Amino acid sequence: MIDFNVVRQYNFPTTIRFGAGAVKELPAHLKANGLSKPLLVTDPMVAQLGFFKEIIRDLEAQSFSVEVFSDTHKNPVKSDVEKGGEAFKGTGRDCIIGIGGGAAMDVARAIALRIHHHRDLFDYDDLIGGDQYVTEEVPYFITVPTTSGTGSEVGRSAIISEDDTHRKRILFSPKLLAKIVFADPLLTMDLPAFVTAATGMDALTHNMEAYIARNWHPMCEGIALEGISLIYGTIVEAVKSPDLASRSKMMIASLMGAVAFQKGLGVVHSLAHPLSSLLDTHHGLANAVNLPYGMQFNIIGSEEKFRKMAQVMALKKDSGSAVVERLFALNRELELPLHLRELGVQQSHIETLADLAFADFCHPNNPKPVSREDFRKLYIEAL
Ligand SMILES: NC(=O)c1ccc[n+]([C@@H]2O[C@H](COP(=O)([O-])OP(=O)(O)OC[C@H]3O[C@@H](n4cnc5c(N)ncnc54)[C@H](O)[C@@H]3O)[C@@H](O)[C@H]2O)c1
Ligand SMILES: [Fe+2]
Repeated sequence: MIDFNVVRQYNFPTTIRFGAGAVKELPAHLKANGLSKPLLVTDPMVAQLGFFKEIIRDLEAQSFSVEVFSDTHKNPVKSDVEKGGEAFKGTGRDCIIGIGGGAAMDVARAIALRIHHHRDLFDYDDLIGGDQYVTEEVPYFITVPTTSGTGSEVGRSAIISEDDTHRKRILFSPKLLAKIVFADPLLTMDLPAFVTAATGMDALTHNMEAYIARNWHPMCEGIALEGISLIYGTIVEAVKSPDLASRSKMMIASLMGAVAFQKGLGVVHSLAHPLSSLLDTHHGLANAVNLPYGMQFNIIGSEEKFRKMAQVMALKKDSGSAVVERLFALNRELELPLHLRELGVQQSHIETLADLAFADFCHPNNPKPVSREDFRKLYIEAL
């Protein structure tokens, strides 16, 4: 039942420059905003790629002073952020550009927070009310996504893990929104098949979980349905025979997923996060494996929404079970694992995983409540 006596807040504020070649606008944008000393934040892999070196060349050719920080982990940790903050201050930077996948953009966003906020980084954890301490301005912050998955480019949060326990913490503030996003699908043309598949399934999970999440947000739901349609219709081609059209559709749909998930996520992300904490599993891969199981769990009570998802996926049968069947088939087609044991999960991990999943911040927005026992059963089923 929707309560129409409640006042809700809807935000869609990010400026997005989208399209092949968009990143070429970066130098002019910096100049127009009086910025000359960017810190480019990326991961060690992307730092080696041709397009990244070209971005630096383009900036240096126009007399920008460029520093790169790329000393980051696959699942970024607090000490990465501290080091990045020192790099910013030590070299007198005037803005931050996060270039890369979700990991790189999250580190960049957390570094932006770090510069003028001096408490312990995890005092800003949203789950303990940390956003109230995000009171100062942050340096001018730009994002350039190079994967089509997390949608972190349009996000307001950064997921950073504790160094010792690897527990994921979430730093959040509307101040952490990028001032502008340069979303250039050309940067994803050489993304390997496996990363395209795993990140694409993350984006599909965002759109699906956002669509069925419990809050009432028809704007996000409209975006999520179109995101599902785009990804479902494109992901196989984007993975197996990529071209500009398929990679562009994946990029916009991943961005749409992140816009949509301001409505909330659900059980699948709560199942996925502990796998990254415990086993360092890639975020998208963890979602891909759990997505069919989590959606199966959600059918009862959300039948109408599943019918609509089946319709935008153009399935023959418009039912929840048809959606779930197709998700299993899609993972198979994309050569992604169907079971958690293929990610190294063992029976002995289940209890810890269930504890961590139950403590996770995503499932309170799942359309139906998820108990610790539900998580245990879902992990066993997916094992
Ligand atoms: N802030 C948010 O809202 C949000 C949401 C979901 C996930 N996350 C975080 O995002 C991270 C996952 O991000 P991801 O899925 O983009 O993966 P990722 O950033 O780990 O990138 C995956 C791999 O692809 C490589 N890569 C990136 N761009 C490439 C390119 N153009 N060509 C070739 N290789 C490239 C990277 O070096 C890396 O090895 C996790 O840390 C997760 O916690 C954040
Ligand atoms: Fe995700």
